[in-house]
Amino acid sequence: MRYLWSLLCVGVLVGCMEGSPKEKLDGAMLLEQKCAKCHNLDMPPKSYEDEIAPSMMAVTFHLKDFIKSTTPSDHESKVVAFITDYVMEPSREKSYCDKASLDSYGVMPSQKGNVTPDELEAIAHMMYQTFDNHKLLKILKERQRLASLTVYERVLEQQRCENCHDINQDKVAPSFKMIASRYTPQDRATLIESIKSGSRGKWQGKTLPMPPFKQLSDQEIEGVVEWILSLKP
Ligand code: HEC
Ligand code: HEC
Repeated sequence: MRYLWSLLCVGVLVGCMEGSPKEKLDGAMLLEQKCAKCHNLDMPPKSYEDEIAPSMMAVTFHLKDFIKSTTPSDHESKVVAFITDYVMEPSREKSYCDKASLDSYGVMPSQKGNVTPDELEAIAHMMYQTFDNHKLLKILKERQRLASLTVYERVLEQQRCENCHDINQDKVAPSFKMIASRYTPQDRATLIESIKSGSRGKWQGKTLPMPPFKQLSDQEIEGVVEWILSLKP
């Protein structure tokens, strides 16, 4: 009897497990595939010109603001519930979009057939978690910090030049001061070319080649070269 019971339990468990653990849907990928055709997904959006729909950041911030809940933990599920309903059954009456915008965009066409309910749920959670005030603030602060750097500081940081070069100390690459003392302002073009296309064999004892940095703009490379040359003792 006990044996039967345990068999039964196992059977029930297996039964549950077969149906329930849905394969985890990739909300970010689905958002891109299913919604980016009309909604800009950048945070913050790069441009508001020629919009055919409000940016997803604007949509999500707006909904988070308008949809109230008594407890914070409730909020995400309420917003998700609105989105999953609206996207399948949109209407002028349900929309939180202001009337003037609704008139210019027109009501969103139902996405039935474009997206399944499961996919939509994953998308809605992704929207809630991605378009977040704190995340936006962080992004804006980081942009501000980068914008406040000089050209050479930004290049050094973003390209990680200092993984190989130190300003003063000889490492796997010659120090920037060593480079400065070997060249004069007349050699600007040589240095620009070395950074753009990489360099090898010019510095004795350096076995590692320097990789090319083709992604840098001329202005960025010139800024770095001016700075290196300014280190001449
Ligand atoms: C064919 C273009 C188009 C596609 C594709 C599209 N939308 Fe929209 N969506 C719109 C437009 C236009 C509006 C603004 C008008 C409105 O609120 O209905 C909008 C508004 C919304 C709103 C805001 C409703 C409100 O009350 O403010 C949500 C939420 C939304 N879309 C989610 C999605 C999601 C999620 C997807 C992808 C599954 C998606 N949309 C795909 C055009 C589109
Ligand atoms: C993976 C390591 C590495 C990184 C990253 C690196 N370098 Fe170099 N760099 C080298 C090495 C090694 C040399 C010496 C190459 C040689 O012997 O020709 C060198 C040489 C140079 C030279 C002198 C070239 C010449 O013509 O004499 C300059 C200028 C320079 N690097 C600038 C930079 C700048 C700016 C960055 C970041 C944008 C950078 N490097 C990133 C390894 C690196």
